[in-house]
Amino acid sequence: MTKVITYGTFDLFHEGHYRLLQRAKELGDYLIVGVTTEGYDQTRGKLNVIDSLMTRVENVRKTGFADEIIIEESQGQKFRDIKKYHIDIFTVGSDWIGQFDYLNDYCKVVYLERTKDISSTMLRTQNKHIQRIGIIGTGRIAERFIPEVKLVSGINTQGIYNPNAESAIRFAEKWQINPYTDIEDFFAAVDAVYIASPHETHYKYIKMSLEHGKHVFCEKPMVLEKTQAEELFGYAKEHNLVLFEGIKTAYCPGFSKLMGIACSGMIGSIRNVEACFTKLENPASRELTDLKFGGSFTELGSYTMLPIIKIFGTEYEDIRFDSIKDENGLDIFTKAYFRYPNGIGTATCGLGVKSEGQLIISGTKGYIKVDSPWWKTTYFEVHYENPNDIEKYSDSFLGDGLRYEIIDFLSMINGNTESEFKLTCKDSILIAEIMEKFLEKRK
Ligand code: CTP
Repeated sequence: MTKVITYGTFDLFHEGHYRLLQRAKELGDYLIVGVTTEGYDQTRGKLNVIDSLMTRVENVRKTGFADEIIIEESQGQKFRDIKKYHIDIFTVGSDWIGQFDYLNDYCKVVYLERTKDISSTMLRTQNKHIQRIGIIGTGRIAERFIPEVKLVSGINTQGIYNPNAESAIRFAEKWQINPYTDIEDFFAAVDAVYIASPHETHYKYIKMSLEHGKHVFCEKPMVLEKTQAEELFGYAKEHNLVLFEGIKTAYCPGFSKLMGIACSGMIGSIRNVEACFTKLENPASRELTDLKFGGSFTELGSYTMLPIIKIFGTEYEDIRFDSIKDENGLDIFTKAYFRYPNGIGTATCGLGVKSEGQLIISGTKGYIKVDSPWWKTTYFEVHYENPNDIEKYSDSFLGDGLRYEIIDFLSMINGNTESEFKLTCKDSILIAEIMEKFLEKRK
């Protein structure tokens, strides 16, 4: 009996998939089809898969060509499967020519001609209106946004707005997008807005964008006053618009896994969360010269508060701050202590003091240690009383992480509310409230 194996994502099942499976089956007597998991697709940079694993498996099954369907979870699995299932022929479409030649040592490799003019990528973009996103602000973070948008299908960078024509044109030329210096022209050309301007301008730009009927993705900290956050979320909700605060940690896969494990009872009831994020900033940078809104806590506090709020919730009993300030009165190092009925949280931030940037979550049965940079969560360990008893977890964090936020933002625009739990309006409002309390105290 000749055994054949093939693999694929088989998203939005189409004719190309059908014809591939049909010909793969004809190559032998028994066909095994490997369907990729979402997790595996993400690690190889395929972030826009629409159908769930169950749907994709079901679609492959319905063709009737597969004698057996398996799940492909990791790199290196193909080799193991070939050995395990005693495979004679490995086959994939001709878009992969050459890439699997190394398997020739273990079985025959056949590249079948790819069906022309059809692909999942094509269907994904046809299915939906492409969201045109416009950027407000021409700083460092805006530069990082554009290449990440390119990785997500269904969204395109339309242009950049800056009232300063020179900055707008320079930025637009570099990234081959349209410059806008008139905000009305800008709003007329976009469906959604990414706000990456200085903190103090966020409120004004969010409000204007929402009033023009645009969805908003705003960099953290979104606003620095509780009432502003409440007003903006209220308006967005009333008008069916998405208002999204960009704290990238909240949307990265490793952090979601971490929160799942932390709150699963594995380490018992959580009693203490200590999150530290420090970076030595150039004294001439905006972060250390903006006397009103600069400083370590406004810059990094959104990250360090995040695990505390996600674990203990928004109902804290008390908050205290301790800061070390520079000669301008800006905090170069701040500790915020949160007191909850059954737990304590410490958010430590530094721009002029360097420390180990780790996250420790302590419970009644054990603790979780997430090494620096925990805000781009890729690896963590669960420890218990017995020091030899350690469980290790890892996940990927690709590029600048903005792609994860863009995917969730887009999926919310498309009416999917599944990812809203990652950073809720309540979380964002609380972060604004704490920022406000901190700035009040620092005055
Ligand atoms: N395939 C094919 N003809 C097509 C599309 C895909 O023969 N027009 C083959 C691929 O070469 C692969 C299998 O079908 O062997 C599964 O491909 P998959 O990557 O799931 O589909 P694509 O449409 O190529 O997906 P994407 O656009 O997301 O890359």
